[in-house]
Amino acid sequence: MALFSKEQISVLHNTRQYFVKNLLKNIGPTEVIEHHSSRVKDNDSIANKLWGKQLNATVDNALNYLTDIIGVRIVVHFIGDVYDIASKIRSQYGILEEIDYITNPKDNGYRSLHMIVNAPVQTKDGCNGRVIPVEIQIRTVAMDCWASLEHQMFYKKEECERMELARKELLHCAETLFSTDMKMEAIQSIIQKTEK
Ligand code: GTP
Ligand code: MG
Repeated sequence: MALFSKEQISVLHNTRQYFVKNLLKNIGPTEVIEHHSSRVKDNDSIANKLWGKQLNATVDNALNYLTDIIGVRIVVHFIGDVYDIASKIRSQYGILEEIDYITNPKDNGYRSLHMIVNAPVQTKDGCNGRVIPVEIQIRTVAMDCWASLEHQMFYKKEECERMELARKELLHCAETLFSTDMKMEAIQSIIQKTEK
């Protein structure tokens, strides 16, 4: 398999680290962030994804066709925080793609705001003038909780009648969590008004 070498993976990690450090600085203050994480997709997952797109597993294909070799997830407390952070990112980065799965959730109930921006590639000698796309996912704690459980339960599971029922229940959970998210937002606004 002709994918990323150890040296190239280390460049990707440096790029991720540098990007996240600057992102957090640029979207501050970070009190609204409950937690954040970032990862570089491993060679096996990159190969699988390329094969899924009927492409050979090569570095060129990975760089030309994948936009989530580097991924960042920002988990916040309230829905409003998602959009505040998104608007800060919009004002400071060139957005290659933005998908609002909060306003338009996936059929299974998945909610999150996805943005793809370019990150400067960091070699050990510093920035080499090239860029690589980074996928940023911004979501509330409740959305993150659902996505994590959904992934845990449904990842690579065969479809059958029982699974259909399970998926229906999971969609119901997503709706319940979203309704709670909206109530929390309303409660937060009452508290903020009281404080003024
Ligand atoms: P990719 O080729 O995987 O990027 O497919 P896509 O572009 O259709 O997916 P999208 O960009 O909408 O989502 C990419 C990422 O969002 C995934 O790798 C997951 O991290 C997350 N995601 C999207 N849909 C789901 C979902 O239904 N459940 C969970 N748990 N995560 C999801
Ligand atoms: Mg995608």
